[in-house]
Amino acid sequence: MTGLRLRTMTTGDLDTVLRLELALFGEEAWSRQMLVGELGQQPATRRYLVAEDDGEIVGYAGLLAAGGQADVLTIAVDAARWGRGVGSALLRQLLAEAAERGCTEVFLEVRADNARAQRLYRWWGFADVGIRRGYYQPSGTDAIVMRRPLTGPAPTGPGHGDGDGSGEAGA
Ligand SMILES: CC(C)(COP(=O)(O)OP(=O)(O)OC[C@H]1O[C@@H](n2cnc3c(N)ncnc32)[C@H](O)[C@@H]1OP(=O)(O)O)[C@@H](O)C(=O)NCCC(=O)NCCS
Repeated sequence: MTGLRLRTMTTGDLDTVLRLELALFGEEAWSRQMLVGELGQQPATRRYLVAEDDGEIVGYAGLLAAGGQADVLTIAVDAARWGRGVGSALLRQLLAEAAERGCTEVFLEVRADNARAQRLYRWWGFADVGIRRGYYQPSGTDAIVMRRPLTGPAPTGPGHGDGDGSGEAGA
């Protein structure tokens, strides 16, 4: 992966994003209408990114930031590219965005059965703060709620802010 680049998502990206969304989230996939609504709230309270590898969209992620708190709303990477740092690149950028917007903490929900995503979030300094029973519908799967404090003006990387900020998988 030579040319990974992150940029703001636009409605022109939605055909590709929706294909990935359906492949990765199945019956819990967001609809075009939902995503259009989300993008309509950029930049006021949202920031959605796509990750492109040599011009091809290979992942995307979204952040809500309001009232000093941020939420990672979604993060997804084409399954063929997992484990190569795309998810980390997206998450790092969302954390930087939250800090730039003056947020002091970032929350997210993750499926209790999604070990891979939990490893990514723990690597980036998120810790469990609670469980929402039956949060994901229609499956009824529990959500783990995770939180990461943002202590300074810019996140310094994995491991509760004491890393070097590189954060690439395998680094
Ligand atoms: C979760 C998801 C976004 C991760 O994307 P990714 O591009 O594979 O993420 P990365 O390569 O940056 O990191 C993931 C892995 O690297 C680890 N990691 C990241 N940086 C690391 C580093 N510097 N050193 C060691 N490990 C690292 C993570 O803990 C995880 O470990 P694993 O390989 O043992 O599973 C992706 O798997 C996905 O799209 N899943 C389906 C959708 C989904 O579940 N989204 C999350 C909803 S809450």
